[in-house]
Amino acid sequence: MKVLVTGGLGFIGSHTVVELQNQGFEVVIIDDLSNSSEKVLEGIVAITGKKPLFEKIDLKEKAKVEDFFNRHTDVEGVIHFAASKAVGESVEKPLLYYENNISTLVYLLKELSKKDNANFIFSSSCTVYGQADEMPITENAPVKAAESPYGNTKQIGEEIISETCKVLPSLNAIALRYFNPMGAHPSAEIGELPIGVPQNLVPFITQTGIGMREQLSVFGDDYPTSDGTCIRDYIHVVDLAKAHVIALQRLIGGKNGSNYEVFNLGTGTGSSVLEVIKSFEKVSGKKLNYKVVDRRSGDIISAYANTEKANKVLGWKAASTLDEAMKSAWDWEVKIRS
Ligand code: UD1
Repeated sequence: MKVLVTGGLGFIGSHTVVELQNQGFEVVIIDDLSNSSEKVLEGIVAITGKKPLFEKIDLKEKAKVEDFFNRHTDVEGVIHFAASKAVGESVEKPLLYYENNISTLVYLLKELSKKDNANFIFSSSCTVYGQADEMPITENAPVKAAESPYGNTKQIGEEIISETCKVLPSLNAIALRYFNPMGAHPSAEIGELPIGVPQNLVPFITQTGIGMREQLSVFGDDYPTSDGTCIRDYIHVVDLAKAHVIALQRLIGGKNGSNYEVFNLGTGTGSSVLEVIKSFEKVSGKKLNYKVVDRRSGDIISAYANTEKANKVLGWKAASTLDEAMKSAWDWEVKIRS
């Protein structure tokens, strides 16, 4: 069964390709290599023994998307990761984000609307909840006004899919709202490859640990939390990847409750920035050089998932602990810098 994975050479995409191939799916990847490398294919082959098909296509080129679906009429499902994801950059360049994240989604859905039956998984984010009023966050928590153009593209993306599903019964879609993905494949053959200075906590920690960065700045320790630092729900990327395969199997097997569903993907456990640092120090055996600085603007205090819906309805549960995820992130960092 053939599955298209857009952005399949990226961080979450590549781990999902591995899990799809492990489950016997035939994978075709579309990636424009704007934030990834063709070398990732070698890592996927090293783990699975199988090379996925790969086409370098920019999904903003509508004619090329159409041509792709004309050539691959046997695609049974699409997992759509390809998108820009830097919050700060999106504030500087909103139109780039709307073009990259919205036009590409529309072109894909237009192609899928021509099919008798189409299955679509969308990469969404817990960012749609903003600072939720109640923890842990359920899928029924209100979607708050987006804090950045990036966050807005995820909200608008969900709306585009849900409105399309209302008028197109042949389209079955699931939006997966990720909390904070981290880690790497335990083989250390694939992992996160941030370009430039990492904006996210975990790659900044591992790069500091390996000596590429002088010091980690902890953004604020005066938040109303147990140790004063922000709380997030860090989920191992392999657990996240597995959830995509289960979601796709749900659609392909016709087991979905309605033709548009939304699930939170997190562990259900909140960890503070200082707890994440402690986990790094434990698994690496190294002291991390860090300093508490001012709060980062736009940061919410706390976000962790209520995972009951994913547990009960999808039959999926995150299996890895923070330490296990951190160990995989560190093993990957050590391997790529050696
Ligand atoms: C951010 C985005 C989110 C996006 C996600 C994944 C915002 C408001 N949210 O989540 O939309 O889906 O990245 O790309 O930007 N921290 C430090 N020092 C650092 C880096 C981070 O203390 O050098 C702290 C932050 O203040 C935060 C936590 O670590 O409390 C996690 O930060 P980060 O990894 O950037 O993720 P989010 O901000 O949760």
